[in-house]
Amino acid sequence: MRLVTLDNVNILFVGDVFGSAGRRIVSEHIAHVLESNSIDLCVINGENAAGGFGITPSIADDLFDLGADVITTGNHFWDKKELLDYLKVPADSHDRARRILRPANFPPKTPGFGVYESTLPTGQTYAVINLQGRVFMQQNDDPFRKADDLLASVTSKVILVDFHAETTSEKIALGWYLDGRVTAVLGTHTHVPTADERVLPGGTAYQTDVGMSGPFDSVIGVERDAVIERFLTGQPTKFEPAKGNPKMCAAVIECDGATGRAYRIKRIMLGE
Ligand SMILES: [Fe+2]
Ligand SMILES: [Fe+2]
Repeated sequence: MRLVTLDNVNILFVGDVFGSAGRRIVSEHIAHVLESNSIDLCVINGENAAGGFGITPSIADDLFDLGADVITTGNHFWDKKELLDYLKVPADSHDRARRILRPANFPPKTPGFGVYESTLPTGQTYAVINLQGRVFMQQNDDPFRKADDLLASVTSKVILVDFHAETTSEKIALGWYLDGRVTAVLGTHTHVPTADERVLPGGTAYQTDVGMSGPFDSVIGVERDAVIERFLTGQPTKFEPAKGNPKMCAAVIECDGATGRAYRIKRIMLGE
């Protein structure tokens, strides 16, 4: 049930869309999820949308057409070279290319941007920040200090952070670190949803990992035989995106637009 206040803002965040199975399950469900939750702002992590590896401009267009306001990414940001050229837009642009983010703590000369700020048709301002963890991942700049730097210049109260990271500890730590300063810290990258969604005491909605929107009869999206073979032999195998048993994993956050404080977070997993 929706809390009724004038400044209520409802946000849908969809976890890593993986391959054609992920795109199909999202396209099957997203319209009714947007409508039944009276969603004002929709953010989709699309880092695996193109066959598991990155996202192309045309697949990004498909996700925007489905209702995404902003698309976030992660370590697979680099996989489709045509995206890197496509993202050469000015910082003050509101084109679709400007609304595809990469982690903000990537090296400074990386194409694209890690934060986007805009206004909804209701007049409500919002910001989306994309960060990547460092534990068991490429060593980028410190995401904690990068968050501090970005928050010093963000003017919106409603702020969603996609924290693309491997370990539960780094994600939980950033959740606590940003509690009361952002509306939501939502984890991505592990492709497995965690059952720890909650609103922290300062008013930040938190979930360690939202989970992927993709084929669950797989090893985190990939055809399982090739992955098992790699574990058994240690030899490189060709990874193909799986198709079976797709699920859309997402979170719905309800917040006060005037303060940015979250009231509630709900975990979603929808199958065929
Ligand atoms: Fe991913
Ligand atoms: Fe990832």
